[in-house]
Amino acid sequence: MAQIIGAVASTHVPAIGKAIAEQKQNDPYWQPFFSGFDYVHQWLGRVKPDVAVVFYNDHGLNFFLDKLPTFAIGAAAEYRNEDEGWGIPVSRALAGDAAFSWHLIERLVADEFDMTVCQDMLVDHAVTIPMALMWPGNSACPVKIIPISINTVQHPLPSVARCLKLGRAVGRAIESYAQNLKVLVVGTGGLSHQLDGARAGFINKDFDQFCMEKIVSDPEALTRYSIPKLVELSGAQGVELLNWVAMRGALTGQVSQLHRNYHIPISNTAAATMVLDNLPKSSRKAA
Ligand code: DHB
Ligand code: FE
Repeated sequence: MAQIIGAVASTHVPAIGKAIAEQKQNDPYWQPFFSGFDYVHQWLGRVKPDVAVVFYNDHGLNFFLDKLPTFAIGAAAEYRNEDEGWGIPVSRALAGDAAFSWHLIERLVADEFDMTVCQDMLVDHAVTIPMALMWPGNSACPVKIIPISINTVQHPLPSVARCLKLGRAVGRAIESYAQNLKVLVVGTGGLSHQLDGARAGFINKDFDQFCMEKIVSDPEALTRYSIPKLVELSGAQGVELLNWVAMRGALTGQVSQLHRNYHIPISNTAAATMVLDNLPKSSRKAA
């Protein structure tokens, strides 16, 4: 059966792609951020996932305001990136696992999550930047991806509770897959940031720290926050936290924090990286 080995959460700021292209990882501005990935690389080298299920939000590359599903999932053999206008190189294409996608889709729809199914799907910086951070270099990425997009862009957005439930349904669906795949769950974006308007540049370190604590130990606590309250506390784009919430929901076992890095700012964003372990529950071990 497929096994969920843990999760990585990562900021997806496009400027990171420019820093990678220009090999600025050790520059004083970038070093505190990139060094946070040393542990991620060691851990991924140890656990060697086969597939990454990636919760992210599209920023206008695959979906636009005219047609923007609340929840969508890829069912393609390959996912391409295109120029989004950020001035960063177009990323390598990422392999998909269409058979696994269709299994997840069957289970999710049966579980009353009526996903938009994309057999052709471009992935934007919210997928490609975290994948480039986790598996650097231009050679083919060693894991396949299943992209799951959550609308964090055009209101009304799904609630925190709904995203936690989506994650839980995805976790159940992954574990019901008969193939012996090692599955990594990824949540991208955040933490606090606001790119425009009167509060452009807004960052809330205290709330970010609180969210990172709760993501590990008590994700239900985050369901108390309405979307307007999240915008108030973490900025208009800080609502990308929804991707982290769904990621956490997909962890079905005993969850602990293996690693955390938090650095202000990367571009306009409080950049955060986390690695979470997902050990089988002891009751299951006995069963
Ligand atoms: C930035 C952050 C984002 O989440 C994004 O999607 C684009 C830009 C930024 O801080 O520059
Ligand atoms: Fe974003």
